[in-house]
Amino acid sequence: RPGAQEWLPRGRAASDVDALARAARECHGCELWADATQVVFSRGPERARLVLVGEQPGDREDREGEPFVGPAGRLLDEALDAAGLSADDVYLTNAVKHFRFEERGKRRLHKSPDVAHVRACLPWLTAEVAAVAPRVVVAMGATAGRAVLGRPVRVTAERGRVLDVDDAPRVVLTTHPSALLRLRERAEREAAFAAFVDDLRLASDAAG
Ligand code: URA
Ligand code: SF4
Repeated sequence: RPGAQEWLPRGRAASDVDALARAARECHGCELWADATQVVFSRGPERARLVLVGEQPGDREDREGEPFVGPAGRLLDEALDAAGLSADDVYLTNAVKHFRFEERGKRRLHKSPDVAHVRACLPWLTAEVAAVAPRVVVAMGATAGRAVLGRPVRVTAERGRVLDVDDAPRVVLTTHPSALLRLRERAEREAAFAAFVDDLRLASDAAG
């Protein structure tokens, strides 16, 4: 049966981020491991008060084995900086840990994960959030929102406030930095960036 659950370490290792990251290298919980270069787990301090969740690694992340090291990561760094946070304050991870893509000649084009991939990969994210025990989880984009909240979300309708969740850290839903990169018009891009920074600041304030 699909799903990452059977690759999760048991006992004390289940709440140790390094042990989780090591175990995830073996994961065959869905088919995405087969075409990707490597698993991309997370980065940031294990005791962060904020966990930020993206969608899945991109092309650069897949090659380097680190999340948010490509263009979206650069934009995220800028936004964190504008919100008064640094990369050292936040634990960064993704809803799905392997890069999904379509080959177009020599290029590998990002392809959004299906709900089945999000569901298969969820045990990793659940274990990470339990291990890090942040005050607030920031879900960036609809895929992350679905993973974190366990239901379909509409980012535009639900962003900009702190969402309470039973028996779990509170959640702030916001846009994905890649969505900002796709905006062509400068004024639109600047407004979207400002709104993204506002959401990060809201999450930071809520996390104390
Ligand atoms: N986009 C994501 O969602 N995650 C990454 O790690 C990089 C880009
Ligand atoms: Fe396992 Fe997630 Fe990779 Fe699928 S995407 S193989 S569930 S780590």
